[in-house]
Amino acid sequence: MKKVTVHASLEYDCLIGSGLLAECGPRFAAFGGSDKIMLVTDDKVASYYLETCEENLRQAGFRVYTFVIENGEKSKNSDSYLRLLNTLAEHHFTRTDSIAALGGGVVGDLSGFAAATYLRGIRYFQIPTSLLAMVDSSVGGKTAIDLPAGKNLAGAFYQPSLVLCDTNTLDTLEDQIFREGCAEVIKYAVIGDEALFASLEKTGVGFDRESVIARCIEMKKDIVETDEFDTGKRQLLNFGHTIGHAVERCSNLAIRHGQAVAIGMALMAKTLLPAPEAGRLTDLLRKFGLPVSCDFPAEQIFDAIRSDKKRKGNSLTLVVPEHIGNCVLQRMPMEDLKSLCVRALNQGE
Ligand code: GLY
Repeated sequence: MKKVTVHASLEYDCLIGSGLLAECGPRFAAFGGSDKIMLVTDDKVASYYLETCEENLRQAGFRVYTFVIENGEKSKNSDSYLRLLNTLAEHHFTRTDSIAALGGGVVGDLSGFAAATYLRGIRYFQIPTSLLAMVDSSVGGKTAIDLPAGKNLAGAFYQPSLVLCDTNTLDTLEDQIFREGCAEVIKYAVIGDEALFASLEKTGVGFDRESVIARCIEMKKDIVETDEFDTGKRQLLNFGHTIGHAVERCSNLAIRHGQAVAIGMALMAKTLLPAPEAGRLTDLLRKFGLPVSCDFPAEQIFDAIRSDKKRKGNSLTLVVPEHIGNCVLQRMPMEDLKSLCVRALNQGE
């Protein structure tokens, strides 16, 4: 097992290893003060892991309540959020009780936002079961729900008290969803770790899960400790996301987040990295079965970028790759971004 400790507004451990799910009860109980726990999950994850978690928490002395949403991004909405708050209230959850998020990013973000706002904040634990949630969304305290106008438009920064990444849960992930998480792993390598990139080139999807996940969390920890509230360095984590989010929107979410980020990274690399390095990234993404291009016209992608919530006035902060293992933040006028989209989408591969 590996441990990474995050020193943010709250100090907490992220544990990475096999079999951690069956230890959640005593590990959560060690925090004390908590009598009731609301175990939030989705119907897919529930079919694999709910019973084990529930039982383990009961044995550790918790009164366990469950809240199960339908699997998928569409559940990360105000209706699920209010239902969760009302369920907590109906069961008289107090400030000393807690929430545990068992699942991927949707479950984690929704649970975290409910934890941040119920009674102005109760404790929550993350038990991420997807690769993407392990390496990214469960760590760093970004919590949110989507609004009809866009993704993550209502949220809060609110850190979990413990993150348990049980690598065994990756065995039941659909292949496409596992690869989606791989896009985020590749992102970490591009923004800050050339050695990780080189090792992924050798191993492909067969990488050592425990050490690669721990390495990504370590990188995220360093970033979050410097910029918890996302006003500077944390934006590096958005590499590939500006175009990626636009691709997701243009596809009406038919292209999943990780796949869209892979396209975003490949297009950024194609226009901004020296050709041999862009080729290395494209090859690696392909090796992981990830897409590197899309059919949407540049104009449509640019229109979607224009409504990006990270836009400030007539410019946007873009993550610009300088080399594999090093990216910088650059404020870019929307006009320049438009030309970049045209270059990225209109050149052949
Ligand atoms: N997922 C990007 C961040 O946590 O800042």
